[in-house]
Amino acid sequence: MGTSSAASTALHQSSQPAAQVVVNKLVVIGIGLIGSSLAAGLKARGGCREVIGIARSMQTITQAKALGVIDRGFLSLEEVAPELGEGDLVFIAVPTLSVAKVLHECARFLPASVTITDGASVKGSVAQAVLEAYGAVPPQLVLGHPIAGSEKSGVTAVNPSLYERHRIILTPQAETSPVHLQRVVEMWRAVGGDVVEMPIDVHDDVLASTSHLPHAIAYSLVDTLAHDSDNADIFKYAAGGFRDFTRIASSDPLMWHDIMKANRECVLASLDLFTANLARLRRAIAADDGEYMLGVFTRAKEARDHFTRLINKQAFVPKMQSKEVTYIMQPGGNVQGKIRVPGDKSMSHRSIMLGSLANGITEVEGFLEGEDALATLQAFRDMGVVIEGPVNGKVKIHGVGLNGLKPPAGPLYVGNSGTSMRLLAGILAGQQFDSVLTGDESLSKRPMNRVVKPLQSMGANISAEGEKGLPPLVIKGGAKLNPINYTLPMASAQVKSCVLLAGLYAEGETQVTEPAPTRDHTERMLRGFGYEVASLGATAKLSGGGKLAGGKIDVPADISSAAFFLVAASITPDSDLTLLHVGMNPTRVGVINILREMGANIEVQNAREVGGEPVADLRVKYAPLKGINIPEDQVPLAIDEFPVLFVAASCAEGTTVLTGAEELRVKESDRIQSMADGLITLGVVAKPTSDGIVIEGGTIGGGEVESHGDHRIAMAFAVASLRATAPIVIKNCANVATSFPNFTELATEVGMNLAVSP
Ligand code: S3P
Repeated sequence: MGTSSAASTALHQSSQPAAQVVVNKLVVIGIGLIGSSLAAGLKARGGCREVIGIARSMQTITQAKALGVIDRGFLSLEEVAPELGEGDLVFIAVPTLSVAKVLHECARFLPASVTITDGASVKGSVAQAVLEAYGAVPPQLVLGHPIAGSEKSGVTAVNPSLYERHRIILTPQAETSPVHLQRVVEMWRAVGGDVVEMPIDVHDDVLASTSHLPHAIAYSLVDTLAHDSDNADIFKYAAGGFRDFTRIASSDPLMWHDIMKANRECVLASLDLFTANLARLRRAIAADDGEYMLGVFTRAKEARDHFTRLINKQAFVPKMQSKEVTYIMQPGGNVQGKIRVPGDKSMSHRSIMLGSLANGITEVEGFLEGEDALATLQAFRDMGVVIEGPVNGKVKIHGVGLNGLKPPAGPLYVGNSGTSMRLLAGILAGQQFDSVLTGDESLSKRPMNRVVKPLQSMGANISAEGEKGLPPLVIKGGAKLNPINYTLPMASAQVKSCVLLAGLYAEGETQVTEPAPTRDHTERMLRGFGYEVASLGATAKLSGGGKLAGGKIDVPADISSAAFFLVAASITPDSDLTLLHVGMNPTRVGVINILREMGANIEVQNAREVGGEPVADLRVKYAPLKGINIPEDQVPLAIDEFPVLFVAASCAEGTTVLTGAEELRVKESDRIQSMADGLITLGVVAKPTSDGIVIEGGTIGGGEVESHGDHRIAMAFAVASLRATAPIVIKNCANVATSFPNFTELATEVGMNLAVSP
């Protein structure tokens, strides 16, 4: 038996049910819901040659035969044992406390060649019974537990699909033979189960919390209400909530009696924890402590929405497998109308971070409900911050103050989001508790030394993997941070922000000087929260130890998302599109400057200031574009917009040359290479260079391109289809949801021809 933890126990991936014989004779001892459903499921898929049922009563055998669940039936194992051998499998599906008796019979009658497995809900007590029956663990025995069932019981509840896409936990021991284990794995896979392996003690612990405790609570609640005379009428009025919550109280009483007894210690530990928390909630209700209640309810709602994280004991559950999403773009289309793209990603991240560190409530409007900003939100919830929403872009953050964050239960997982990881590193470096920041496959390849080094020189105890400084970032709490005077080696708002945020926790003045202007949302928003930040030319400074005061934040539409439509309208004849309420921070408008220099027709309308940030509506019409040498001073101001600017360059007359943009190589993908490869596939002449690209404007053809899971590459190629001569298929587009969750809807609304597969 392995000693791996529950979080790393995945062994056998799910597979489609196999239509091949995996077991010769299947003997099911106990023909209730669990046993009969396996028998019926395996039979239906041709996974066994014959099913033999063993039951305590003739009536069950007759019923099971009539239902077609078994081929033959017996009242004892002894009767059938002589005909069993290699390739046959016995499944023990009796109530937990009856397994011991069956195991004694197995030990007496079954030859060592027969595979034995079980389905009992507790594994420790069964393992003990095995030792009593056999004296040692027999290699033919594979203990297991299908995590499937229903409140219904008995052979009449048989369901051949019961195990489809359900977890089957196997708890093999050191003595278990691989041949028998494999047979059991194949059998469960044949009925559609996802087989995982887990140590026995971990299984019992996890199941006590996730299954046994809820059953105890449901039984107790229904019993309490049923016996309370004041509540005599309660069931008449009990609607959805009551029914949902108490459904499991109509499960088989004997089975649950057995489970509670067999897993006594683990169940008691879970019950103690729960009753303590329930008592705490009671005190909060009695004291009218709304904050506490909201904290419990928002955390619980979020956890329910991602409930596997409870089993995995993680702060956040990474996507196990990112969904395969392909865009199929038909060539041509229109670009017309008035749209508002989602909220600014950079500001959405910062609104959660600063709102959480502020004193008092912060109300955010226009929050981007994309995966990246949600990862930041999740991280702060994991550190105990009560955050309501988001609902229609509205978020209410109950700030805890600069020193009010709590240690998270596990690693903080920030998915695809570099901004979350780098800015959080600065905040976490100043905490008293330890933390770990992890991310998805793409983020795990992105350089973190750029934040690790300055934080270390401030005295932070932070480390990354290897020489390249890759995630995860491991941060030890309790370090005393010193202020620094840091000159950024690269123009990066993320690094600048990281150092400034760490500076909030340092005693004295922290200064950051940048080689070129980068987005200044951190500085602006800190000021909006009443925190003094001085910006003198290329240097921003602040002193640690102050306070942030919660308030209102209006997040404008993201110019980086608007950029796709700025280019779409610029390259499509007869287009006329207005983009509403776009953030026009001077450190972000490089895309407009570059497009205008290429000849684009972009009109800035209704320019105004909202919450300390300039905002405007942008009206864009088609205009013939020409190739240019992109001024290097515009690079940091348009750093995220280059993928789509390369599409504009492909439609322009003449050559466009980009230099000074090596940073593009370390974004969500190597954006120079990803774009060059895709454009070349589409017939465009594009030459990548170490720090940029040279693109000859011409005709865009069709073909299949790869986005490398990079949201901006995917959307850029979608825009290219407007001028393509044949369909463009764009692979790996799921991550568009990180920054622009409704991209396909808005693209279709303005007139692009986009289909999503699957
Ligand atoms: C961001 C800064 C930029 C940008 C990223 C968001 C921010 O990264 O590419 O999408 O919110 O600070 P760098 O600062 O690393 O260039």
